[in-house]
Formats: sequence, C-alpha cells, structure tokens
Amino acid sequence: MSRQLKFNIFRYNPQDPDSVPHTDTFLLEETPSLTLFIALNKIREEQDPSLQFDFACRMAICGSCGMVINGRPGLACKTLTEELPEEITLMPLPVFELVGDLSVDTGSWFRTTNTKIESWIHTDKEFDPNAIEERMENDLANAIFELERCIECGCCVAACGTANMRDDFIGAFALNRIARFMLDPRDERSENDYFDVVGTDQGVFGCMGLLACEDVCPREIPLQDQLGILRRKMGFIGLKNIFKPKAKAVG
Ligand code: SF4
Ligand code: F3S
Ligand code: FES
Repeated sequence: MSRQLKFNIFRYNPQDPDSVPHTDTFLLEETPSLTLFIALNKIREEQDPSLQFDFACRMAICGSCGMVINGRPGLACKTLTEELPEEITLMPLPVFELVGDLSVDTGSWFRTTNTKIESWIHTDKEFDPNAIEERMENDLANAIFELERCIECGCCVAACGTANMRDDFIGAFALNRIARFMLDPRDERSENDYFDVVGTDQGVFGCMGLLACEDVCPREIPLQDQLGILRRKMGFIGLKNIFKPKAKAVG
C-alpha cells in the first residue's frame, strides 16, 4: 500500500511586507520512484501554485534545487521520498539570500566568492585559437576533473557551521576550487599568490574541521582530503615566509 506523505514546507516571501515566515502542510500520495522534485511540482500544480522552489536540470547537474531536507542539505531532484520517513520537512538553504519559500539566490554568492578567490586560470600566455591543445598527463587531468565536478549547489556551505556563523568564511567550495587550480600546471600563480587568497582566517585556517561539507556533497567530492592538503600546504608556506632570511638594509 502506498504511503500518505506529509510535507511541512517553509513559506515566506521577503518581497511582500505582509508575509510572515511560517510552515504550510501538504498531503501527497507516494508513487513509485517519487523524487522530492516531482513531489514539489505536484504540490504546486495540484494544491498551491504560489509555492516557490528552484530547478532546471532534474538530474543533479545544475545545482539549483538544493534545500534542507529533514534537517540536512541535499538536492530535491536526487532525493527519493522512499529514502525518507512519511513526514518530510523542507526548509530553504541557510547562508544564501532567500528569494521566497524554498528558493534562494546561490548565484550571487557563488559569483562573489569566485571573484574573491580569482577562480580562473592565471597565465600571461596569449590565447592562440589555432594552437594545438597542450598535452596533460591522464592522471593529472583526472585529478583536476575530480575537483572540477562541483555543481555549485551550495549544500556544503549551508551545512557548514563556520559559514553559518561567519559571512566572511569562503567555505569548502572555494577551498576545493583553489585546490583544483593549484594542481593545474597552466595556472602560473605562485605559492604566495595562493597563500594570499586562502592562507587566512577567512580561508583554510577558518575551517574548524566540522566535516559536514563532505557528508552532504551530492557529487561526493573528497572535500576533507582537499582541506587537509591545503591546510598543510598553506601552513608550510606561512612558516617559510616567517623564517625566510630578511633582506639586508642598504646603506
Ligand atoms: Fe555542492 Fe559539493 Fe560543490 Fe559544495 S562542493 S557546492 S556540496 S557540489
Ligand atoms: Fe565547514 Fe567543512 Fe570546515 S563543514 S568548518 S568547511 S570541514
Ligand atoms: Fe538541477 Fe536538481 S534540478 S540539480
């Protein structure tokens, strides 16, 4: 017999001065292979057309359907209701600006953070559209690809206690991104350039090792390994800078 699901969904429209944050309850008959994404669409189509939530790809690629599902950040399109109890509580991701109900503005946050960490290949080489692509060892290309798989869903940021408490903390997403550029031989930044970006309290030294980021990452990116590697590298660069011989004063 199919289950009767009870959805408790956070409702609030920050654009409407009369709107007050509250929870609405919706009942829905569970069908085979029902995802939260399909369930939310059914609720919107059949019960409340004003319900706001985001989606685009429906296949865990675009990163837009992140929300807090029974207390844990995750993707609505990747979550089957059969993995959840009959009562399901959905909240918007914290940290990001609320657009309305379950919809948050992750785009602005990622744009700002990507700009802050200069999330692009830094090179003085002129781009030549006719040049043959530079070769890269397969192992290295795979290692870069492993970290490149992030879909900017925001789940790791929303799950991180430090990011929830401090809006200047760049979070596991950004640290993973820098780890990816440090692997890439095409990026000509020096170790001190990277240190300036992430060797700070807003960066890797602000991470308290709470581990929730990797637990919730829908792409299973090895964030803990990267944070550990980055912390060791940045600690080493910091020490080298402290103990490097001082330039002699002239005159
Ligand atoms: Fe989402 Fe994982 Fe990327 Fe964080 S690292 S934004 S959880 S895909
Ligand atoms: Fe946050 Fe992950 Fe560090 S949850 S504190 S970024 S280990
Ligand atoms: Fe694209 Fe869920 S709709 S990740």
